[in-house]
Order: sequence, then structure tokens, then C-alpha cells
Amino acid sequence: MSNSIFVKFIIPFLLCFGLMVFFAFLIDYLLHLGNIYWVGKHLGIPGTLLIMGSFVYSAKKRKLIKSGNAKTYLAYHEYMAWAGSVLILVHAGVHYNAHLGWLATYMMMINVFSGLVGKFIIRNARESMNERRLALAAKGLSDESIENELFYDSITYGVIKQWRVIHLPIAMVFFILSILHIITIIIFS
Ligand code: HEM
Ligand code: HEM
Repeated sequence: MSNSIFVKFIIPFLLCFGLMVFFAFLIDYLLHLGNIYWVGKHLGIPGTLLIMGSFVYSAKKRKLIKSGNAKTYLAYHEYMAWAGSVLILVHAGVHYNAHLGWLATYMMMINVFSGLVGKFIIRNARESMNERRLALAAKGLSDESIENELFYDSITYGVIKQWRVIHLPIAMVFFILSILHIITIIIFS
């Protein structure tokens, strides 16, 4: 594996994922330090609201929102879903009593994981393909030769683009499990 792949993709990816877990522990630690650990249980609500708010991107993508550009809304999605997930992790705590909440949490973790894969790996793959296209064009290659040269790159890109197959259905399962968890909390408390 080349150094640039490691520096450009793997390190930021691991940092973002690791920081989510780190911040969850830090907030939990600070709450215990201040003897207000009970606040953690209530972070389920702001966490859920942040993740729901992150779906403004979906509204933008479907042209329900006219102002701003899609790239900014995607950044909202990424940061808000990430921050919401930190709060949900604090909310979940380290005990295990109820399956539903934990299943929803596992789905959320897979979603954040796959979201980060999308952000760092796919986006960069697209960028490096565009860079290669420009470099080949600068060498004076015809459009047809460029397409030939990029054929295998584009297949790889097409394959990894399939990551949506993970991100989207898992998001749906996450959504359903979260609703069921919240309904059981409302019914049994
Ligand atoms: C409106 C939002 C939410 C509310 C009001 C809420 C409420 C609660 C409450 C009251 C508990 C404590 C249950 C107990 O100790 O028996 C709990 C536990 C938990 N919640 Fe939530 N929750 C919300 C959202 C979420 C979401 C979105 C997830 C996951 C993605 C989640 C995951 C969990 C987990 C893992 C536990 C711990 C279960 C255990 O002790 O085994 N919660 N929630
Ligand atoms: C709680 C966690 C998450 C959930 C439930 C979630 C859910 C979703 C959903 C439903 C979409 C589809 C949007 C649409 O087509 O309408 C989406 C797209 C996307 N998400 Fe997430 N996401 C989460 C976390 C993340 C994170 C942490 C990142 C990156 C840091 C991320 C990056 C992306 C990207 C790059 C797209 C693709 C946009 C596109 O293809 O148009 N997601 N996410």
C-alpha cells in the first residue's frame, strides 16, 4: 500500500472513527467527574435530533430545499450525524439491558463507518480519477484513448460506488430499530 493512500485515506478515516469513540468516553468521564452522570441518559434526545437534522441533505438532494449548494448540505449530514452518534454512544452507556437499543446502536456504528468510507475513500478515488483524466488529456491523448486508459479505474470506482448498498439500507434498519426503541421506552416508562 502506498504512503499517499495511507496518509490521504486511512489515517483520516481511523481518526474520525476513533475520535467518535474517544469523545463519547470523554463526555461520559466528565459527566461522572461532575457527578452529573444522569445527564448521559438524556443525551438520546439531542443525539436523535442531530441525526434527524443531518437528513436536510436528503431534502436538498431531492430539491425540497432551494438555497445553498449540495456539497455544504452533505457536510452538514456528515458532521451532524457524527456528532449525534457521539451523543447516542454516551446515552447508550456501558450497560446491557435492552436488545433493541443496542441493535440500533450497532447499525448506527456501521452507518458511521460506511459513511466515513464514502467520505474518504470514494471521494478521493473520484478525485484521483479526475486528476488522471486531466494528466492524460495534457499528454494530448484523444478522448477514446483516455477512456481506454481509465477503463479499469472506472470499473474499480464503479465497484466501490456500490457502498451505498451498505450505507442506505443500514440507515433504514437503524431508523426502524431506533423508532421501536423509542416506542418501547414510551410504553414501558
Ligand atoms: C428520542 C430519543 C431517545 C430516547 C428518549 C431514549 C430513551 C432511552 C432510555 C430512557 C433508556 C434507558 C432504558 C433503561 O435503562 O432501561 C435508553 C437506553 C438506551 N438507548 Fe435510548 N433513547 C433514544 C434514542 C436512542 C437511539 C437513537 C439509540 C440508538 C441508536 C438508543 C440506544 C440506546 C441504548 C443502547 C440504550 C441502553 C440499553 C441498555 O441499557 O441495555 N437510544 N434510551
Ligand atoms: C447515524 C449515522 C448515519 C446515518 C443514519 C446516515 C444516513 C444516510 C442516508 C439516509 C443517506 C442518503 C441520503 C439520500 O440519498 O437521501 C446518506 C448519504 C451519505 N452519507 Fe450518511 N449517514 C450517517 C452517517 C454518515 C457519516 C458519519 C458520514 C461521513 C462522515 C456520512 C456520509 C454520507 C455520504 C458521503 C453520503 C452520500 C451522499 C450521496 O450519495 O448523495 N454519513 N447517509
